[in-house]
Amino acid sequence: MCGIVGYIGDKDINSVLMAGLWRLEYRGYDSSGVASVLDGDLEVRKVKGRLMNLQKILAERPLSGTLGIGHTRWATHGEPSDQNAHPQVDCKNSIAVVHNGIIENYYTLKEELIKKKHFFKSNTDTEIIAHLIEENYNGSLKESVLKTVSRLQGSYAIAAICTAEPDKIIVYRYGSPLIVGIGNKENLIASDIPALLDHTKNIVIMNDGELGIIKRDKVEFYNNEGKKIEKEKKKITWSAESLEKEGFPHYMLKEIHEQADIIDTNIKLRIREKDFDFGENFHFSPQELANLSHIIIQACGTSWHAGYVGKYLFEDFARIRTEIDISSEFRYRNPIMGGELLVMAITQSGETADTLAGLREAKAKFLKILSLVNVQGSTIARESDSTIYLNAGPEIGVASTKAYTSQLFQLYILSLYLSKLKWTLDDSEINKKIKEIKALPKKMKKILEKENEIKKIAKKFKDAKDFMFVGRGINYPSALEGALKLKEISYIHATGYPAGEMKHGPIALISEGSPVVAIATKSSVYDKMLSNIEELRSRKAKVIVIGTQGDDIIKKLGSEVFYIPECEENLSPILVSIPLQLFAYHIAVLNGRDVDRPRNLAKSVTVE
Ligand code: AGP
Repeated sequence: MCGIVGYIGDKDINSVLMAGLWRLEYRGYDSSGVASVLDGDLEVRKVKGRLMNLQKILAERPLSGTLGIGHTRWATHGEPSDQNAHPQVDCKNSIAVVHNGIIENYYTLKEELIKKKHFFKSNTDTEIIAHLIEENYNGSLKESVLKTVSRLQGSYAIAAICTAEPDKIIVYRYGSPLIVGIGNKENLIASDIPALLDHTKNIVIMNDGELGIIKRDKVEFYNNEGKKIEKEKKKITWSAESLEKEGFPHYMLKEIHEQADIIDTNIKLRIREKDFDFGENFHFSPQELANLSHIIIQACGTSWHAGYVGKYLFEDFARIRTEIDISSEFRYRNPIMGGELLVMAITQSGETADTLAGLREAKAKFLKILSLVNVQGSTIARESDSTIYLNAGPEIGVASTKAYTSQLFQLYILSLYLSKLKWTLDDSEINKKIKEIKALPKKMKKILEKENEIKKIAKKFKDAKDFMFVGRGINYPSALEGALKLKEISYIHATGYPAGEMKHGPIALISEGSPVVAIATKSSVYDKMLSNIEELRSRKAKVIVIGTQGDDIIKKLGSEVFYIPECEENLSPILVSIPLQLFAYHIAVLNGRDVDRPRNLAKSVTVE
């Protein structure tokens, strides 16, 4: 899940491409590169490692053309190195290609090209695209790219330039996202919206099987038979400012602190006088939903944890049987699907390949698809029957935070709406819960104001080598999320468990001083949770308890205690997630980790 950019216009190509790549670095940061053509020559600058390395090279040896393509890499085929960095070029150094995705049949194509005397300089799958374009070139880069993609299997968003046609960038999309930014006497391409926002808010989203010819003063689109097609222009509502850190040391911390306002905005958008409003992309009729008997939620990572909380909400409030599936398993598991079934996809990026594949699997069976998505106009949103947007704004930090709490919020509101349609909760119960919801932003702000308390606890545990996170009921998924946050940004091993499960094995891992984060807020399983904490204490674990304000009992049980304001049990995952995010954040910072760009990860996983 690399980041691709491209520009043609009069601005300085070096700063435009670099600015675009900086905006996309969260998509991969193993190596980077740019290329341009001028006076019949191809200029390529590429290097292993962070973007700063490329910036230094361009400062010494800038590109001099007026069009160019760029790439920041998340390595799949070929280890991070200068050779394997993109752009990849052909034998004659006349064609340069950047690519996001995976070419699954690259072995066979490479052998075929080697037999035709092509010489390969890298171990990447991408380089075969440059050689195939060279092999197919007959005076038209467009035609050559169309011929080339007809041989490819896998996922590929491609941008290509060549010395013979220095007035255009050719792009092609299949399986990986690609967006065109429409400017004034300039045009851009990018894998994601943030790279375009500094130049334009007018975009065209490319669909699978579409080719674009990007020139200085016009863009044209074709289908994969080479037939011209018209494309709709869209306007982006996000601001370029929202992409800044606004004084925070990391995007992750900024995004953690945005959560109360985002929930407040969503309360105003979703809760109307007498009803709920899920926005203009929600097309299901009340009758359709009232008949639902089964929901399958499929997602990955943090979004899967949100879906797990959704299972508790749909079953508790709306009494609808709900399954939760990890998309990469759901995709190949041959699940039983039929009847009044709704399949949900939950995703921040809207581009996660596993979740998209899961969606297409359900679609192939003509099932109703509802997705919860943050990125406007993303593939999963466009391919769903209905979409509920998270309205969390651009999430740049690789570790998902504000998108997660908005996912929990949307699931809570949706479960209330379904309970209303299915008469499983009466109006007074629903109104009571709406009152609780409206108190959330204030409670979230209170927790955020106590950040230093979490920082102090983090300081005491920053050298720990592994952690356990335990919770019960609707906060079991919260324990999973707490563990994931810590793992992905601090690189410390951590596991989330249902607290009641510890005595069936995992408690064997506990020895004197083992750190365990226990979520013990007031709930229907509170007493059971206290017993589980006692079991851990009897093994001399150091238990860090997240509890409800005013609860003196846990003060005696926890080695460390962090209080959150009292709230309705099924809303507590939203409040509990904040101290879990801050705990992971401060432990990672105290261990000198690059919190926004954790190793081996990328923000949007667009390959299976
Ligand atoms: C979470 O912090 C990670 N970035 C990752 O687990 C993420 O949740 C997962 O890749 C799913 O991404 P999505 O929500 O964009 O589909």
